[in-house]
Amino acid sequence: MPCHISATSFPIAFLVNFLLFLTQYYCVFLEATTILANSSTLVDGSFNATCIEEERNALLEFKHGLGDPLSVLDSWVGKDCCKWDGIVCNNRTGNVIKLLLSDKQISGTISVSIGSLSHLETFDLYNNSISGPFPTSIGNLSHLQTLYLSFNSISGQIPMSIGSLSHLETLDLSWNSISGPLPTSIGNLSHLQTLDLSNNSISGPLPTSIGNLSHLQTLVLSGNSISEYLGLAGNRFSELLPLNNGHEMSKLRALDLSSNNLSGRVPSFLSKIKSLVFLDLSSNYLSGNITRDWMGLQNLTIIDFSNNNLSGQIPNSMCSPSQLSSLKWLRLNNNKLSGDLESSLQNCRTLLVLDLTGNKFSGALPKWVGGSLHSLSYLRLGANKFTGNIPEQLCGFSYLQVLELSHNNLSGSIPRCLGNLKQMKTGGGMLEDWMSNMTIEETITVEGFDPMHMLLNLKGVEYDYAYRIARFIRMFDLSINEN
Ligand SMILES: *[C@@H]1O[C@H](CO)[C@@H](O)[C@H](O)[C@H]1NC(C)=O
Ligand SMILES: *[C@@H]1O[C@H](CO)[C@@H](O)[C@H](O)[C@H]1NC(C)=O
Ligand SMILES: *[C@@H]1O[C@H](CO)[C@@H](O)[C@H](O)[C@H]1NC(C)=O
Ligand SMILES: *[C@@H]1O[C@H](CO)[C@@H](O)[C@H](O)[C@H]1NC(C)=O
Ligand SMILES: *[C@@H]1O[C@H](CO)[C@@H](O)[C@H](O)[C@H]1NC(C)=O
Ligand SMILES: *[C@@H]1O[C@H](CO)[C@@H](O)[C@H](O)[C@H]1NC(C)=O
Ligand SMILES: *[C@@H]1O[C@H](CO)[C@@H](O)[C@H](O)[C@H]1NC(C)=O
Ligand SMILES: *[C@@H]1O[C@H](CO)[C@@H](O)[C@H](O)[C@H]1NC(C)=O
Ligand SMILES: *[C@@H]1O[C@H](CO)[C@@H](O)[C@H](O)[C@H]1NC(C)=O
Ligand SMILES: *[C@@H]1O[C@H](CO)[C@@H](O)[C@H](O)[C@H]1NC(C)=O
Ligand SMILES: *[C@@H]1O[C@H](CO)[C@@H](O)[C@H](O)[C@H]1NC(C)=O
Ligand SMILES: *[C@@H]1O[C@H](CO)[C@@H](O)[C@H](O)[C@H]1NC(C)=O
Repeated sequence: MPCHISATSFPIAFLVNFLLFLTQYYCVFLEATTILANSSTLVDGSFNATCIEEERNALLEFKHGLGDPLSVLDSWVGKDCCKWDGIVCNNRTGNVIKLLLSDKQISGTISVSIGSLSHLETFDLYNNSISGPFPTSIGNLSHLQTLYLSFNSISGQIPMSIGSLSHLETLDLSWNSISGPLPTSIGNLSHLQTLDLSNNSISGPLPTSIGNLSHLQTLVLSGNSISEYLGLAGNRFSELLPLNNGHEMSKLRALDLSSNNLSGRVPSFLSKIKSLVFLDLSSNYLSGNITRDWMGLQNLTIIDFSNNNLSGQIPNSMCSPSQLSSLKWLRLNNNKLSGDLESSLQNCRTLLVLDLTGNKFSGALPKWVGGSLHSLSYLRLGANKFTGNIPEQLCGFSYLQVLELSHNNLSGSIPRCLGNLKQMKTGGGMLEDWMSNMTIEETITVEGFDPMHMLLNLKGVEYDYAYRIARFIRMFDLSINEN
């Protein structure tokens, strides 16, 4: 049956696009680290300040504990440590300012002696096999701007002394085995712009001091066991949060707290962070109604609250002109949301992705289907309680690539015009355009979660297509193939 093949090929095309998208991100990433790794050679020819004895000894002590299968550290001999691979010195003072050893398969622990490199500005051990805990002496690196240790096996807690790194702008410790709570001293890092602690075993509440990080733009804490927002239980976040004293997180663009242990309501203070572009609270234990007030969040583009216990209706206010006027991505799948959708989302004109699968929505398929949501590319309404006919208006979605209506109580016939939906056949379109236009910052956060979610979902859809009684999808296929 050729129709079957054509049906599954839509999501596969989509999936391939996501994978391409992921690859793109990694390319950007690798380029960046290569440039860093090469800057030492730039300095080589011209500087003449030689290395400082104490720092040289500290580096040798650091090297002593490391396994180095690629023999990268063989160049670490002789007097002038400024000429060693991966080391960049200040050419006037001779102080080591950069330690750049990403992707070198280096193993072992970070020596206490690292604390002697007190002028270090960049410490990059991205993607090695570094294990063991942080030495407390890391707090001595008071000039550090970039600490980049992701993709290692670092364990233990983040030491309190991290709070002394007052110039730190980027702290990326993602993909390690760090445990315990975040130290409150994290609130001291007043220049921090990016904090990525995803995929560790960090637990407990977030320290309130995180609300003091006024330059923070990206906060990624997914894949941990963080249990409460900003250390405050219950529903009184907005009163207690240090949001009104001039230290608010007024630059925060991305907040990713997915796959944690959060419970209680979606905290209302979130709607006070007007700068948000990306908000992912998926795969937690959040319950109660979705926040009504999204006033002024004109840049919020991506909302993912999927896999929680949210109930009640989608607030009508979502997507009113003064609220969420940029929303492109709304995933509320696998919650307990109910009601009919007639008026809820009709103003979400910029929406590209809408996933409401696995809720308790009822009534007829809403009239906005194919009406006001011109750009919608990905629509999943499966596993709900929708009744009635599939409206002709569905054919108004000229960019639709993925449509899922299975596991509802729909009846009647399939509108023939569905077979004419161009993007269904060709792929490409609005969604890919938008994703390829994302800023690197957005991509960084999206990279960690979207392709994964999509893979899972698409697998689900494929599975539906192939094995389940997804009668609408199958009939839908037929109508496409009639063309
Ligand atoms: C440094 O850059 C050159 C080209 O400019 C490249 O051939 C070389 O592989 C780079 N070295 C490292 C260690 O990345
Ligand atoms: C010293 O370093 C600075 C910036 O790192 C660079 O602009 C300058 O050209 C260097 N001078 C020498 C003599 O290498
Ligand atoms: C360092 O190099 C510069 C030129 O690159 C030269 O003028 C200066 O005398 C050198 N200083 C020392 C201490 O060798
Ligand atoms: C880490 O480095 C290895 C090679 O040492 C490479 O194969 C792998 O793709 C890198 N992983 C990441 C996440 O960059
Ligand atoms: C911290 O740095 C100072 C020099 O700035 C050095 O004397 C001291 O030993 C360092 N402490 C540790 C624990 O590395
Ligand atoms: C945090 O900053 C304050 C004031 O800048 C300082 O007194 C305190 O020692 C810092 N705490 C830590 C743990 O670094
Ligand atoms: C977290 O990282 C470890 C390796 O450090 C990896 O095996 C695991 O799959 C990652 N978990 C998630 C949820 O990404
Ligand atoms: C936030 O910063 C202010 C002023 O610097 C300070 O008084 C307050 O204690 C800090 N709050 C937290 C929770 O660290
Ligand atoms: C998650 O929260 C539940 C209670 O809400 C608790 O029993 C469980 O231990 C928590 N898990 C972690 C890893 O903190
Ligand atoms: C929204 O984004 C624009 C463009 O990046 C920026 O100029 C504006 O300040 C942002 N608005 C808020 C409330 O952060
Ligand atoms: C939750 O929403 C429902 C309707 O959607 C409403 O009846 C109820 O009062 C709301 N509950 C709270 C606590 O706001
Ligand atoms: C993507 O960027 C291009 C060029 O900047 C622009 O013409 C196009 O409209 C953008 N597409 C979307 C979907 O934002």
